[in-house]
Amino acid sequence: MAQHDLMDKIVSLCKRKGFVFPASEIYGGIGNTYDYGPLGVELLRRVKDAWWSRMVTERADVVGLDSAIIQNPQTWVTSGHVGGFSDPMVDCKKCKARFRADKLEDARCPEKPSKRPGECGGELTEPREFNLMFKTHVGPVEGEGSVAYLRPETAQGIFLNFKNVMESTRLKPPFGIAQIGKSFRNEITPGNFVFRTREFEQAEMEFFVPPAEDEKWYEYWCKERFQWYIDLGIDPDKLRLRAHEAKELAHYAKATSDVEYEYPFGWGELEGIANRTDFDLSRHSEASGKDLVYFDPQTKEKYTPYVIEPAGGINRMALTFLIDAYDEEQLEKDKRTVLHLHPLIAPTTVGVFPLVKKEGMPEKAHEIASGLRRAGFSTFYDEKAAIGRRYRRQDENGTPFCVTIDGETLADDVVTVRHRDSMEQERVPVAELTTYLSEAVHGWKRPDRT
Ligand code: GAP
Repeated sequence: MAQHDLMDKIVSLCKRKGFVFPASEIYGGIGNTYDYGPLGVELLRRVKDAWWSRMVTERADVVGLDSAIIQNPQTWVTSGHVGGFSDPMVDCKKCKARFRADKLEDARCPEKPSKRPGECGGELTEPREFNLMFKTHVGPVEGEGSVAYLRPETAQGIFLNFKNVMESTRLKPPFGIAQIGKSFRNEITPGNFVFRTREFEQAEMEFFVPPAEDEKWYEYWCKERFQWYIDLGIDPDKLRLRAHEAKELAHYAKATSDVEYEYPFGWGELEGIANRTDFDLSRHSEASGKDLVYFDPQTKEKYTPYVIEPAGGINRMALTFLIDAYDEEQLEKDKRTVLHLHPLIAPTTVGVFPLVKKEGMPEKAHEIASGLRRAGFSTFYDEKAAIGRRYRRQDENGTPFCVTIDGETLADDVVTVRHRDSMEQERVPVAELTTYLSEAVHGWKRPDRT
């Protein structure tokens, strides 16, 4: 399939099946802003659960945090965002469109979409810095004193709480604080569907380490984060870890590597892992006058920890899983569209169908569906249309397993489990169904990648 077709197909599947809708659609939308529908919200939730599980629940050395979106504005002065979180922009004097000066080759003139910026006959201005932070006002009076910002990253809320978390948990470096939450950036050239939007959810973890151990932990987190995507089924041939060159490094970073994916529009950053040194804690300590050093009572050592930061975007992860899972298969008689999503992140885990809408099969199917829901499986009941069509609908939703109740089930309490990827069917006793499905979820491997 041609790569540009793939992106169009993903966008249309997302709308048709209820993953992603354009926001404020009935009012004509609001550029590059999206809402997540019933399947999309489940996908996001599962991606977050999978991240949280690996980064927090399964570890003894990482704890969670949920910090405020609007912090004291000094936070962003100290972090460098007020002064330096900007992109160089140029304006077209004719059509008044604004473009990122460093991305002109990818941009199109809004008046003449087949043309590049300036090709509409307008002259482009000299580049000017444009700050990406969203400003707002706190309290009843709008004025200089009430200006506040929507956070452009979740990381700073973690640095502000470093001491609180350390003292309340009695953890000592090396340890991490993880957070998932919304971030906001007034991106001037958002695009590629939900890849770059102005409002998005980040999953970030700041791992505080003794300064002498920074390189060891940086290597560790680069490997660990890369492996997470492979474990969730992403094609390893479409993933790479790319170290930043010195000129690309952010002002706070000693080293950064991006986990990149080969999108239909080319290689792009999926997640970044940075060695932020002691930059943030030192700056906040200096600006607030509060001591943010760590004192080790055993070794009597005192130091400001270095920070290794894996930072990813939940929406970008979800988009990547969708693109990577999308497949169109030519079968003997017809073609099917299927999402080979890992069962841990598939919006629905099990479809439950009575073979026909009579003879007690719907009642039995409802009973089985309720049991699966109680056991924690995301379950969808469907009795409409022929069984083949119901399977196809779930293939397109990425549902890995379907359970069919037929005439024999009523006699022997055995159901048919149909697998999305292989389309193979097996007979499984109802009494063993939850154990069977649980093993199938956790033992899943994408058949064409093993
Ligand atoms: N605290 C470091 C930080 O925020 P970043 O590379 O700017 O680093 C981390 O952002 C991740 O957040 C990116 O790898 C990407 O997945 C996601 N992200 C950043 N900007 C985004 C946007 N405008 N839309 C969607 N996701 C975004």
